[in-house]
Amino acid sequence: MALKPLQLTDTDQTSEDKKIQKELQNVGSIPEHIAIIMDGNGRWAQKKGNIRLHGHKAGVESVRDVTESCAQLGVKYLTLYAFSTENWNRPSAEVNGLMKLLVQALRDEADRLRENDIKLVTIGQIERLPEKCQRQLLEVKNMTKDNSRMQLCLALSYSGRWDITEAVKHIAQDVQTGILDPDRINDELISSYLSTASIPDPDLIIRTSGEYRISNFLLWQLAYSELYITETYWPDFRRDELYDGIRSFQKRDRRYGKVRNGHNKSMSATVINQIIS
Ligand code: FPP
Repeated sequence: MALKPLQLTDTDQTSEDKKIQKELQNVGSIPEHIAIIMDGNGRWAQKKGNIRLHGHKAGVESVRDVTESCAQLGVKYLTLYAFSTENWNRPSAEVNGLMKLLVQALRDEADRLRENDIKLVTIGQIERLPEKCQRQLLEVKNMTKDNSRMQLCLALSYSGRWDITEAVKHIAQDVQTGILDPDRINDELISSYLSTASIPDPDLIIRTSGEYRISNFLLWQLAYSELYITETYWPDFRRDELYDGIRSFQKRDRRYGKVRNGHNKSMSATVINQIIS
């Protein structure tokens, strides 16, 4: 018997929010791919006199709100930096707490992801995560694999340098075995060996908590991404701030190293010589 198609449930979306989203869609383009460095969970908790794990727990609420609002807006890819390679060096109690929180969040959110037609994928060294975490991830990935409205990618035990190192190893192996001609190595080919091979580079990168760093995130992929940095700690970051980030993105003039339209008057050799003489 064929299953009844699941209805898109834009859970709890107010009419005011729908209006704001419509305006954003009408004013300019919605980024196809947004990547987020979720930072400030620990400081948020400490400011309230709590231990850091409270901040991570509160951060799950922001993940839910931002994920659903991105899907509603028409963002196709959302990549969240949930655990970096370097995060393994944190105290074991915090790492264990984070892993338990991840399992819990995946259990709690699986149905909402399915109802919202969101596909879950991961990048990073998933085999380093505890067995329980790996099993839960696999379950939700399988459960959502045919969803197509938006792809939510969790970067777990991930770092940009790891990604590039793995790509270089595979390229070297393919050259050694004769599958790959070194003359074919270019930007596009390198991208195709990265863990993000099947998705476009991020258009917009958001970092919370006022830090001006990339912190070993998608180093290759962020080459031409627009940056939006906010002072807000991740547990306080909700859709209204996401909209501010998108509004800022819509005002950017993305030139990819070229000149702005109307600024491309040709320069004659005489003019060039006059300027540099
Ligand atoms: C950075 O804040 C945040 C993390 C290392 C973990 C992010 C995890 C979550 C939001 C919860 C689980 C995630 C999912 C996807 C369900 P920090 O600890 O570095 O904060 P600080 O800079 O204030 O110390």
